[in-house]
Amino acid sequence: MPFSNLRAFLSDLEARGDLKRVRVEVDSRLEIAEIARRMVREQGPALLFEHPTGSRFPLAINFFGSFARIERAIGMHPEALGERLVRFAEELNPPSPSRLWGARDMLPRLLAFRPTRTRRAASQEVAADADLGALPVITCWPQDAGPFITFPLVVSRHPSKGKSNVGIYRMQVFDSTSTGMHWQIHKGGGFHYHEAEKAGSALPVAVALGADPALMLAGIFPLPEALEEIAFAGILSARRTRLVRAKTIDLDVPADAEFVLREQCRRSSAAPRGLSGTTSVTTATSPTFRCSGSARSPTGGVPSIRQRWWESRRRRIATWATPPR
Ligand SMILES: Cc1cc2nc3c(=O)[nH]c(=O)nc-3n(C[C@H](O)[C@H](O)[C@H](O)COP(=O)(O)O)c2cc1C
Repeated sequence: MPFSNLRAFLSDLEARGDLKRVRVEVDSRLEIAEIARRMVREQGPALLFEHPTGSRFPLAINFFGSFARIERAIGMHPEALGERLVRFAEELNPPSPSRLWGARDMLPRLLAFRPTRTRRAASQEVAADADLGALPVITCWPQDAGPFITFPLVVSRHPSKGKSNVGIYRMQVFDSTSTGMHWQIHKGGGFHYHEAEKAGSALPVAVALGADPALMLAGIFPLPEALEEIAFAGILSARRTRLVRAKTIDLDVPADAEFVLREQCRRSSAAPRGLSGTTSVTTATSPTFRCSGSARSPTGGVPSIRQRWWESRRRRIATWATPPR
């Protein structure tokens, strides 16, 4: 069953006893991350912190923290899906009517690779000024340089070729309007930025927080440049990704996001830089994302993820679920 947004997925987990609500106030600095770490160790449920300190928005964490939950999100175990995609490619080489018929179970997924565009969307309903301080943003480790948005879907487009990219790159929150964008230069967003910088311009970027679970998973995969995450999310979930034009910026963004932050990325030498968990490699060179506005769904909540757990699983999942190049 494909889920249209993060809320629908969390409700499903809750109904199955696989999500716990934390109703007391919990500190976004270290405390939430530590509770989540212990929950991962015990192979516990997803968590919804209803009152992270300093924010009126809830924060969800650990919702992809087990393969059973990932399977629930995309309707198939990632390993089985990966194997099926590989077999499908082999079956169709060369294609014949009987081979096509034999592979018909894959058709709903393949037909869903094209996104749909909508004019109105929950993610654009409540327009707001930039106020990153209003979001619940966690600090994971005592030596981290500050709070990091850990599960942003960073949307950008190649300045001349027009291909879009959705990647997950941690964003260090500096103040209410600016963050450090920690994409590595060889990543999709980093490459787009490099191209824009060469042309002497800033790169328009939108950041979606919370979207349909398949797109959130697709953002993690190192896909070939030719295969857009938006198409891959459709294949993962057998549901076409819904897009909407972002306000005041020339980019299509996930229609089912909880929040969409938008603005330009440009280099700013004045911005402070620092560590995040296990990595410091990109901090010195990362550009600044200046947020001038945002939009959100009326019931917005913020997803979060702990990097270490994911980094170890990501490689396994990527091997399974990335289609052959
Ligand atoms: C929780 C999490 C945090 C991540 N943080 C970063 C990051 O800060 N910078 C980065 O370059 N990649 C980061 N990654 C890895 C990228 O998301 C991953 O390489 C992805 O495939 C990038 O997509 P792209 O190939 O479209 O650029 C992170 C992944 C996860 C799961």
